Amino acid sequence: MCGIFGCIMKDGKVAPTIHAALKRLEYRGYDSVGEATIDDGKLYVKKDTGKIDEVHERCNLDDLPGRIGIGHTRWATHGAPFQVNAHPHFGCSDPPRIAVVHNGIIENFAELRKELEDAGHLFRSKTDTEVIPHLIEEMLNSRQFAATVNIDSEFINATIAAIGRLQGSYALAIVSTMDPGRIVCARNESPLVLGIADDALYFASDVTAFLPLTNKVIFVENGEFVVLGEDLLEIRRLADGNPISRKTKLVDWSPGMAEKQGYPHFMLKEIHEQPRCLRNTLRLQNKYLGLLPTFLDRAREVIMVACGTSYHACLAASYMFSKLSFLATYPVIASEFAEQHGKSVNIDSTILAVSQSGETADTLSAVETARQRAATILGLTNVVGSTLTRISRVYIGQQSGPEIGVAATKTFTSQLSVLSQLAIQLAKRRGKISQEEIDLLEEKIENIPDIVEGIIETQEEKMRALARKYKTKQSFFFLGRGISYATALEGSLKLMEIAYIPSLAFPAGESKHGPISLITQGFPVIFVCPPDETRRTVVGNIMEMKARGASIIAICEEDDEDIKKLVDDYVEIKRGIPGVLSPIPYVVPLQLFAYYMAIERGCDPDMPRNLAKSVTVK
Ligand code: F6R
Repeated sequence: MCGIFGCIMKDGKVAPTIHAALKRLEYRGYDSVGEATIDDGKLYVKKDTGKIDEVHERCNLDDLPGRIGIGHTRWATHGAPFQVNAHPHFGCSDPPRIAVVHNGIIENFAELRKELEDAGHLFRSKTDTEVIPHLIEEMLNSRQFAATVNIDSEFINATIAAIGRLQGSYALAIVSTMDPGRIVCARNESPLVLGIADDALYFASDVTAFLPLTNKVIFVENGEFVVLGEDLLEIRRLADGNPISRKTKLVDWSPGMAEKQGYPHFMLKEIHEQPRCLRNTLRLQNKYLGLLPTFLDRAREVIMVACGTSYHACLAASYMFSKLSFLATYPVIASEFAEQHGKSVNIDSTILAVSQSGETADTLSAVETARQRAATILGLTNVVGSTLTRISRVYIGQQSGPEIGVAATKTFTSQLSVLSQLAIQLAKRRGKISQEEIDLLEEKIENIPDIVEGIIETQEEKMRALARKYKTKQSFFFLGRGISYATALEGSLKLMEIAYIPSLAFPAGESKHGPISLITQGFPVIFVCPPDETRRTVVGNIMEMKARGASIIAICEEDDEDIKKLVDDYVEIKRGIPGVLSPIPYVVPLQLFAYYMAIERGCDPDMPRNLAKSVTVK
C-alpha cells in the first residue's frame, strides 16, 4: 500500500506542498520517497530510500522548481527498498521525459517487461511500475496507438493506450516533458481521489493528503482516467475515452478521521480492507510462489516459527500442508524454538519463519539459532526490507500494506491466503491431489475475497449486537476441531488482547479433558464449525457444553440448520468454502466480535495496554 500525491498550482512551487502531503500519507508506506516536478519543459526528480524526514534531510525535498509535480511514498512489493526501486520511474530516454508514480500491483508486468526488453528497453529497477513509462515510450516510438481518447496530445493518447495493456490494480499518475502542463491519473482498484481548491488541483491516494488545503473532493472510480491542467479537470472512461461528469463532494472529516478513511479506528478500517488485501495475495507472482515449495519439497523436516497471530497462521498452515501436500510440518512458537529444537535442527532442516513485521525478536532469534546450524531459512512477511527478508534464503512479501492497529487482522488473513497457495503449489508439485481437486481449490481461493466482503457487509451488525449481549461476561471459551482450532485460538487472542477478557481456546475434543469443569450456567462458548470432516464430532461437543448450561455462539455455514437449532446465537458464513480454507472467512466475525467487545467495554482497540505492534525484545 503506497501513497501517491500530486498537484498543479497557479502560483508558487509545488515541491513543499508535495513533501507535506507525502508526510501525511506516510502511514501508507515508508520505505522510500520520491518527487518529480516539471519546470520550463524540464523534468526534475529527487528520490531515495528511508522515511520522508530522513530523505528530506539528505536531499531537501522542497528544493525542486515548478508548479506541477507528482510524489510517492513507498511500501515495497516488487523489489527491495533501494533507491533505484523508489518512485517516480522513467523510461529509457536520457534525460527522462516521462515520470510515473503508482500504487498497486501490475499482474502482467513480467510479460510486459520481457516484451519491452526484447524491443530494446533497458530497465533499471526490479519494480512492476517501471514497465509503465517504457510502455508509453514504446507506444510513442512505434506509434502503436490510436487517438481513441480524442485528446489533442500524443502523449496522453499513448499513455491511455499503454494503461489499456495493464492488468492488476493501480492508482497512477504520469507527467511528461512532452505535455508539460498536464498530469494524467488513472485508477483500477487502488484508491484515487481529487481535491479542488481555487488556486490548485490535487490528486492523492486518500483525502488525508490534501485535507488541510481543501475539503472539496471528487472520488475517481475504477476504469477511469483524469487529465489535470491549469483550470482543467477532465474525468473519462479508460475503455472508450468518453467524458464523465461527477459532482464535487464536501468532506467534513478531521485529519485523524481521514487517515482512518472515516472509520473510528484503524482496526476496523483494516478489518474492512481484508477483501482488497486478499485480492493482492492472489496477484503474487508465480515465480515466488513456485520457489518456496521447491525448498519445502526437498526438506527433511519443515519447522514453522512465529509468534502470536503469525503462529496461529502457521498452525493453520500445518493442517493445509498435511491435507493438501501430504507434508508434515511443525509449527513452533518462536520463543520456544531454541529449547525445543535448538540441538536437533541441522543442514537438512527448513525453517519457514512467518512474521508480519519481519522484526519480531523471538522469531529472528529462532531463525538465528537455525541459521547457525546451517538450516535453510524461508520467510513470509509483510515488510519487504525487514530483517527477515535480509536473512532468508527466499522470502515472500504478503503485500497487505502497513497495519497500524496493534491487533493483527488483515495481515493474518493474508498470511493464510499465501500459505494456502503454497500448500496448493506443493500439492501440485508432489502430485498428491487430483487436478480436479486443485482446480476446485483454486476456484474457491479466488472467491474468498468476495466471501469475506459479504461477511463484513452482512454480519457486522450482528457482531455488534452480540457484543452488546455478551459484554458483561468475565471469560470465554473458543473451541474448534482440526484447522478450526487455529481459528479459535486467533479469535480468543483478539478478544483477550483488545477487550481484556480472559479467554481460552482449545481443540474442541480436548475440552472434555479438563476445561469443561469451568462451565456453569451461561458461560459463553464460541464454536467454530465449518462443515468439514470435524463437523459431526463438533456437534457432539456442542451438546456436551449445552448439557452443562453453556451459552453457545456458533460460527457456521448459512444453511447448517442443525447447528443453528442447537445454539443460542449463530453467525452465518456463505456456503461452499472447503474446510482447509475456512480459517480465512471464519476468523472475520471473530475479529469483529473482539472489536465491538472492546468498544462496548470502553477499551481502545488500536492501542491495547502493554502491547506493541512489533515486539523487538526477547
Ligand atoms: C496479535 C499480534 C501479535 C503478533 C506477534 C508477532 O494481534 O499482532 O500477536 O502477531 O507479535 O508479530 P509479527 O507477525 O510481526 O512477527
